[in-house]
Amino acid sequence: MARILKVDRWNPDAEIMLEAGSILRNGGLVAFPTETVYGLGADGLNPEAVRKIFLAKGRPADNPLILHLADAKNAEDLAEVDARASEVMAAFWPGPLTLVLRARPGVPAEVTAGLPTVALRVPDHPVALALIGAAGRPVAAPSANRSGRPSPTDAEAVAADLGNKSDLLLDAGPVDIGLESTVIDLTGRKALLLRPGGTDIEKLETFLGKPLELPDDDSKKRSPGTRYKHYSPAVPVRVWTAGETLHDSVNPAKSGFMGISPPPAKFARVILFESEESYARGVFAGFRQLEAKGLSIVAEWPEPRGIGLALRDRIRRAAACTTP
Ligand code: TXA
Ligand code: MG
Repeated sequence: MARILKVDRWNPDAEIMLEAGSILRNGGLVAFPTETVYGLGADGLNPEAVRKIFLAKGRPADNPLILHLADAKNAEDLAEVDARASEVMAAFWPGPLTLVLRARPGVPAEVTAGLPTVALRVPDHPVALALIGAAGRPVAAPSANRSGRPSPTDAEAVAADLGNKSDLLLDAGPVDIGLESTVIDLTGRKALLLRPGGTDIEKLETFLGKPLELPDDDSKKRSPGTRYKHYSPAVPVRVWTAGETLHDSVNPAKSGFMGISPPPAKFARVILFESEESYARGVFAGFRQLEAKGLSIVAEWPEPRGIGLALRDRIRRAAACTTP
């Protein structure tokens, strides 16, 4: 098992953070909390350290990583930041928003997967910010799960997936949002939505003054993450919409239900959330819990607004591997 150290979310122990920073500077891996999900961090300017992330996760080498910064002012060293990008940063950082921008020379190809662009984000979590500060450099970090698995929303899930593959795991308890950051591409005239997530799409559109566009096939090729199997528990996942009858193939006695409406049958287990926000916060842990009990999963299809849009995306991907 990796060394696990508990840290206070609001007031992380300075000595622990110094040690974590020096592990990163020496080319090691540190798993850490952010407001969205736990990340697996490495020195983002050290190609060899970044390669360790891909090995630990079993991640395809052509799926680029996000560089995490402590402050928007460091973005200029890594990417071309025009007026629009800098306004978006000022309005939404720190926070669950990742910006894809044109990369400056010097960003390792291991981070960008050889693309001319780089993804940047300033997370809104005291432990993440302290870690990046202690490292004194950008921290490359994907979600701290095995590739293809649900993202980890607490330290237990990181330990279960990555075991001793990180040198240190900082445990600050469960995360706030539970789904990954929203990713937008600002390299062209039109802002593209690459991944719905923790930042409300409507707020972004209001700020930008126009709708986000969806990537065409060409730019999808440039966002490799969208191609891969994602968020999948090892048991079948089926979607249920409130008011509908259950799919014939579901046996409630051998299934677990997750959602915010009363379940449509007598399930072996029920995980009820009081709002879409708490559904988002608990969806990945719920997948893991029901999977551990060997139960199939029935997940309620959320309303397509606010965090519900990102939640739909994750549930759709989790269910995509289940044949009807
Ligand atoms: O909330 C989050 O974003 C978490 C926490 C740890 O910050 N991180 C995270 O990283 O979700 P990851 O690697 O699991 O997802 C990053 C997504 C992937 O879909 C990847 O393809 C995309 O961002 N991405 C990264 N760099 C990109 C680039 N240069 N162009 C297009 N997409 C990029
Ligand atoms: Mg991920």
